[in-house]
Amino acid sequence: MANVEKLEQLYEGKAKKVYKTSDPELYIVEYKDDATALNGLKKGTIRGKGVVNNRMSNHMMRLLEKEGIPTHYVEELSDRETLVKKVSIVPLEVIIRNIAAGSFSKRYGVEEGTELAIPTIEFSLKNDDLGDPMINDYHALALRLCTEEELNTIKKYAFAVNAFMKDYLLKAGVILVDFKLEFGKLSDGTIVLADEISPDTCRFWDVKTHAHLDKDLFRRDLGGAEEAYQEMMKRLLGE
Ligand code: TMP
Repeated sequence: MANVEKLEQLYEGKAKKVYKTSDPELYIVEYKDDATALNGLKKGTIRGKGVVNNRMSNHMMRLLEKEGIPTHYVEELSDRETLVKKVSIVPLEVIIRNIAAGSFSKRYGVEEGTELAIPTIEFSLKNDDLGDPMINDYHALALRLCTEEELNTIKKYAFAVNAFMKDYLLKAGVILVDFKLEFGKLSDGTIVLADEISPDTCRFWDVKTHAHLDKDLFRRDLGGAEEAYQEMMKRLLGE
């Protein structure tokens, strides 16, 4: 294990806690089993989720690093804890969609499951009080959320993540419907992929049955979320 000491908690989010460490450039994230939906209105627990999300997200970030996409990942410390680079989060939720689902289907009246002509991208302002409103590129720049160069880097990385993950997951019998990414800035200004890639932040459908293998089971009260999270870990990590 890296020679760092876990220090005081810096922040507790809906699904993770973040701790300072003895190295000012490194944080420890700890994944919880708590689940929320509808901007925090719906609360519950998905037993084992923290372990699945931690291990799956780290697995994907290690693969993405090999593909040339820089991430915040440093080292998995335990089933629920990971050492990451300290970043300042760009306050944007970056959503990529391959297939119509969720809010896209509702907003544009497109049947869930319709394949999109091209993968598409959208941005939301990360602000719980405002309900993460959807914004466009110009809004992001007008609000000084990032520079134009940073936004171009974010878009390039987001589509590269999609291209890699879509193929990779298909080999595990999983369709990547859509997902949300967050990016951060290191102290030297480098943009890196941050947050997590997990069944909380992606829509995964079984390739044969189109069964949900993600948090929609919780969001929509369909049942079976714990089993679905375990199934995703089994398919990707073989356990
Ligand atoms: P949406 O269809 O509800 O807009 O969600 C699109 C994708 O983004 C889906 O894979 C779930 C993910 N997502 C998050 O990770 N966090 C969020 O707060 C929201 C709204 C969506």
